[in-house]
Parts: sequence; C-alpha cells; structure tokens
Amino acid sequence: MSQREGLRADSSHFTLDGVPIQILGGSIHYFRVPRACWRDRLLKLKACGLNTLATYVPWNLHEPVKGMYRFEDQLDLEEYISLAAALDLWVILRPGPYICAELDLGGLPSWLLRDKNMKLRTTYPGFTAAVNSYFDKLIPIVTPLQFSRGGPIIAVQVENEYGSYAKDEHYLTFVKEALMSRGVTELLLTSDNRDGLKCGGVEGVLQTINLQKLSYGAIQYLADMQPQKPLLVMEYWCGWFDVWGEPHHIFSAQDMIAAVKELMDRGISFNLYMFHGGSSFGFTSGAVDFGSYKPQVNSYDYDAPLTESGDYTTKYHLLRDLLGSYQSKLPQLPAVQGRKVYEPVVFSQHMSFWESLRCTDMPFKSNDPVNMENLSVNHNSGQSYGYTLYETSIYRGGALHSRNHVRDKALVFIDKHLIGILDYRTQETAVPHSERERILGLLVENCGRVNFGPALNEQRKGLVGDITLNHTPLKKFTMYSLDMTPNFINRLQSLKWKSTDEKPLYPAFFRGSMAVDGQPRDTFVKLPGWSKGVVFVNGQNLGRHWSVGPQNTLYLPASWLKSGDNQVIVFEEHRAGGKMHFAENPQHCKTIDVSRQPFCTLS
Ligand code: GLA
Repeated sequence: MSQREGLRADSSHFTLDGVPIQILGGSIHYFRVPRACWRDRLLKLKACGLNTLATYVPWNLHEPVKGMYRFEDQLDLEEYISLAAALDLWVILRPGPYICAELDLGGLPSWLLRDKNMKLRTTYPGFTAAVNSYFDKLIPIVTPLQFSRGGPIIAVQVENEYGSYAKDEHYLTFVKEALMSRGVTELLLTSDNRDGLKCGGVEGVLQTINLQKLSYGAIQYLADMQPQKPLLVMEYWCGWFDVWGEPHHIFSAQDMIAAVKELMDRGISFNLYMFHGGSSFGFTSGAVDFGSYKPQVNSYDYDAPLTESGDYTTKYHLLRDLLGSYQSKLPQLPAVQGRKVYEPVVFSQHMSFWESLRCTDMPFKSNDPVNMENLSVNHNSGQSYGYTLYETSIYRGGALHSRNHVRDKALVFIDKHLIGILDYRTQETAVPHSERERILGLLVENCGRVNFGPALNEQRKGLVGDITLNHTPLKKFTMYSLDMTPNFINRLQSLKWKSTDEKPLYPAFFRGSMAVDGQPRDTFVKLPGWSKGVVFVNGQNLGRHWSVGPQNTLYLPASWLKSGDNQVIVFEEHRAGGKMHFAENPQHCKTIDVSRQPFCTLS
C-alpha cells in the first residue's frame, strides 16, 4: 500500500492526501473530560460539522513523579486519539512541552523547579534532558497514529506561543528536532497571538495565529508575514476562562457565529478554543499574574459551545446550523444526557485537620523552611499540589512577617487556633504575647502556579524563604505535606471521626453519604454557607469550593458515582454551612461579556 500524503501547506490552501481541505477544528482536552464521556463529546463535535479534534498533552499529568509515567485510564492518550480516528476525525496534537492551557505551571511538572537554577522553556541542559526523557515515552505512543501511517494525526504543534516568551533563540529548534528525531513526520506548526508572531516562528514550520476578534487585522498580519501559505487560526477563542473572585466570562454567540462565518467564507482554517472545556479537576488549575496573582477556578466551561458537563448550548445549535449550511449532511445529534438533583448530603461526622496529620507521610525537618517542590516526598519529586503545614516553636509574641515568602495563602495558627491569614496582600500578622513554648503553624496552600508570562521559573510554592518574628527569621521547622491524594483520603477512613454534635476544630474534614438510586446521573455540587476548601467524592478530588465565586458549583460526573452509597468528604478551612446540595446546572455569581470588551487580553 502506498503511503498517504499528509497535510501540506505549500500554497494558499491546505491539501491532505493531495486534496484541498479546510480544517474545521475544535479543542477538547481528554484530561478535562471524564473518560466515560470522551465518545459522547467527540460525537457532538462531529455532529456540529467539525472535522478535526485538537488537544494539548499535559506533561505534568503524564509524568507526575520524575521518571514515572502515566498513560492509562483518564490519561490514555492513545485511546483518545484512536477514538477520534474511529469517528473519522482528524487530530492536531499539541504536545508542548509547555502548553499554557490554564493548567498549573502551563502543564510543566513542578518537580523541574527542584533545580534552583532551572530555566524552563530554554535549552538549559536540566530542562532539555527532562524533555528528552519525557518525549522518549510520549512520542512513540503517537507516531504510529500519524496520518501518513494510517492514523488521524495530521499536524503536530511545536511548543505553545513561544513568541510571547522567547527567552532562548535556540529553543524552538530544539523542540522541533526533538519531535522529528523521534519520528514525527506530519506537518509541524507553531501557534502565537499577534504580538508573539514575530519571535514565534522556526525554520520550516508553519505559523498559525490565536485570536478572539477578526476586526484587528491579525489575520492579514499573518498573511503578510507568511505569503503563499494557508491560514490557520489555531485558537479562535469563543469564550474565556475565569479566576477566583472575578466575574464569570461569557462571549456573545452572535459575535462568535459572525466570526466563524467570515472564516468559512474566506476559506480560512480554524480551531475553536474551546469547543468543550470541561473541568480542571482537583488541584490542576493554574493562575495568572500580571501584577497581581489570580488563581483560576476549576470549571473550564469557557462559555464554549458544549457546557462544562457536555450539554448543548445556543452557541452549539447556531454553529451547527451555520456549518450545516456548507455541508450536504450532518450526523444526527447525540441524545442529551440527563442530569439529576440528588437529595442533599447530611454530614454526620467530622475530624479536625490536626488529627489527619497522622495520615501524612513522615514529616520533614529542616532548620529553614523548604518550598514544597524540594520536600523529600514522592520519590524525591517533592510535593506538587495542595497544602503544606510548617510548624515551629516560638517563645514570644510580636509581629510575624512573611517577607512575601508565602505562596499563595497561609492560615496562621498558635497551638492549633487560627490567629490570622498571610497572603500577597497581608504580609504581617500579630502573634499574642506569651513566654511559654507554643507551636506556630502555617498551613500554606498552593492555589495554582501561573501558566503564562515571564515568571514561570519563580513558581515554587509553600514557604519560599524566611518568615520573621520581630525581624528575626524563624528556624527549626517541621513540615507536613498534604497533597490530599486519593490514598490520603482513603487513609483518613481508619481514623476516629467525631459526631457533628461536637463542635469541630477547624480546619476540618466532614464526612457524609450521598445516596444514588439506580443508574447514576451527572450533577453539580454546591455548598451554600461554606467558606473554602476541597470536595472529594469516592476519593476523587472534584476541586475547590470557595465562597468568593464566581464558580458556585462543582461538576460531579455520573461515571464517578455508583448506585447506592457514595462517600463525600469535604475539607473546610473555616466554616461548614450545613448540607451539601445539588444542582442541575452550573451556577456562577456574576458574569462579564468579553465580546463587549474592547480587547481581550490575558490579564
Ligand atoms: C493562549 C494559550 C492557551 C490558553 C489561551 C487562553 O492562547 O495558547 O493555552 O491559555 O491562551 O485560554
């Protein structure tokens, strides 16, 4: 059998196997969609009239511990790509190594930061060696799935928006060669926003653009830079992401449809970012910092054509009507998946966080505080996510100053009683006077590492330097790592829980049971009156609840539930509000329409 000819960009339009094509793509990230729903979401993408699936590949999830790789279950990339192939979709693969994507550290593993001199996204040998080891595992999984070898992958992206970082002129060549030397033969491309295009290219690789509005002339700018090449909007942002404490972003369906129509009429290829966003479950979401640090929420709904739980929206239907008008026949719409509002969960038991320390690994001792990445846990890959408790003895009171070394938020305790909070804004708190020995505890939470911008190398978390009491650095710390993995949550079961008749000592874990009658259904969890913490169902970390919003609900997929009793554990920092409730649809406290903003930046 003669080899198929892959995607070519030799003239003003793409050809695939010699035939002109327009790429009509949509992004869906397998790591943000429960595996049981992959097929449903891809069928809906296809039924909308799109022909290509784009996905990032998150290094931090595939190699959570240095040298230990995960490509199974939720991270079974091979299966995901094969599913796309079975549905006759082409695939654009975006393997990074850095991907941005509103993921912690832009998808880079935090253990890279154990090296104090690390220079991420450069040809610094410590970084390239780690990329090489990872690519040695990843790339052989995807090369057999390339178009010319009979698979669906028609293009592979080299890094992500490097033009906006551009700290090393040799770096893109390194990534390109790292892909090619391992057998990537399909079309290579880079993707940048308009400002990044100038420094974002590399010899022999097609440049593509990311944008939200066509009216700013960005496409013409790309066309002028790269004449006689096909145009691809690699990310057409049809919505936006949210950060804690700010409004939920929406983007007008009419504006999106007008833009897509223009792209269709001009024969410009595009990829909708996101077609379906899903959820950044657990502690996987990132943060932005353009002068002030803002952690991202768990929902990655993105105001995309499919909602966080994969439901149709007005945007979806309008888009399908539009794309349908250019095609002879669209596949049938997959059936709507029913959701359910379950009976509220009553929390019958609680356990203080201080008790739970018995379920952590051996605490770590050091004269100076150690940032979480450099703790000797997880086979010497350090702690990546969650909370770290720092304890030391003090013999006086006075002014406790963080010297801005808290990343990102610390609850401050004296003998287990909360006396204050330290974060970026509040760097000092008063410790009441006493000369007897007392234990000062700082429970420091990593709220998410920034995923974009020049400060990637400075994303160590926990205490990243000295904290002082009356200007004297504190010493002799004992540190407990609380990454709140499913194992840890399981270990909590064996401890003694108290009945809710007794007053809880916060922070605390609350335990209850959720009854599911018959076939489980998708639902949304909400905790009105609660303050801040983390929600676990059957050991799975759904993400944070935080009363500042805008996200007021957490998606709980049917596939994570079972018929009968389901165990719910909520970690709460300050104030349990009563029962856990359920909702049929996601709820946000306030919204902002980004299509009405003059310019959508990354801030
Ligand atoms: C950029 C990045 C994406 C994502 C979007 C914003 O375009 O390439 O990974 O971060 O911004 O959602």
